[in-house]
Amino acid sequence: MERFELVSKRKLADRVNEYVVYAPEVARHCKAGQFVILRVDEEGERVPFTVCDYSREEGTVCILVQEVGYTTALLARLEKGDRLADFVGPLGNPTDLSAYKRILLVGGGIGSAVIYPQAKQLAAEGRAADVVVGARNEGLLIYQDEFRRYAKDFYPVTDDGSNGRKGFVTDVVRELIESGERYDVVFAVGPLPMMRAVCKLTEEYSLPTVVSMNPIMVDGTGMCGCCRITVGGEVKYACIDGPEFDGHKVDFEEAMQRLRTYKAQEEEHMCRLRGERR
Ligand SMILES: Cc1cc2nc3c(=O)[nH]c(=O)nc-3n(C[C@H](O)[C@H](O)[C@H](O)COP(=O)(O)OP(=O)(O)OC[C@H]3O[C@@H](n4cnc5c(N)ncnc54)[C@H](O)[C@@H]3O)c2cc1C
Ligand code: FES
Repeated sequence: MERFELVSKRKLADRVNEYVVYAPEVARHCKAGQFVILRVDEEGERVPFTVCDYSREEGTVCILVQEVGYTTALLARLEKGDRLADFVGPLGNPTDLSAYKRILLVGGGIGSAVIYPQAKQLAAEGRAADVVVGARNEGLLIYQDEFRRYAKDFYPVTDDGSNGRKGFVTDVVRELIESGERYDVVFAVGPLPMMRAVCKLTEEYSLPTVVSMNPIMVDGTGMCGCCRITVGGEVKYACIDGPEFDGHKVDFEEAMQRLRTYKAQEEEHMCRLRGERR
């Protein structure tokens, strides 16, 4: 097997694929919460993805990828046996939930890729967490069987009620807290508006909340400044200081604005890929 070869590719939902990549050096060192930066080909842009799972024995790393733009569309065109140009990591800091006993994991959309390894690890340590996973509809809910296996209690929630409770993850989080569940921490990962909503809610209950930030990244080593965010009034670089931060201190408005910086160029790239003229 060649380095960075796709060992498998599996469709999990509409525009969401699971890729297992042969990358023994990454697999040997990575831990839950860290990420990789890959390039699909030599000309490609560098894009970050969370390490969702790994096998040190087989030298493989698993990532879940949602197709949202140019590079993720290129990736979706690859098949088992194809090779990536690079697959660099592990980057960022591993998640550390060791200080907490009762943990609530909350995932929105592709954020499940980040909470899944936590759910698995906490179960292996004998302190399984409760897990809330939200999606727009049933077809977009990923890893349900896996979460059922590793969670203490698993609460799926969909916007349209096609699976689990109808509503948003925040509805379930509020109900759990109001029902008397005494969590020490909430670990919430998903789109920025979802993480912001969870943080606003948990602030009401003074419940510590950790979020995983996903700004645009280039080098992933603290050199380019691209992944700058503001946390508690201080500048932080998500790639080396995070990606996890105290959610009650994150400036979400700024983070959302920065994520839109290259919107025009991203759209232009996609048009070129589809062979459209602007
Ligand atoms: C530490 C980290 C871990 C991540 N883990 C995952 C993961 O496990 N699975 C996954 O599918 N995605 C993950 N992402 C997001 C992923 O890197 C982006 O979706 C990807 O870079 C988009 O590239 P593109 O060329 O396909 O889209 P682009 O055309 O570059 O962007 C399309 C749209 O996607 C949004 N976008 C762009 N970059 C990002 C970004 N970095 N994060 C979120 N939204 C973005 C913007 O709204 C943009 O308009 C992670 C990001 C970070 C920083
Ligand atoms: S990605 Fe360049 S500083 Fe973080």
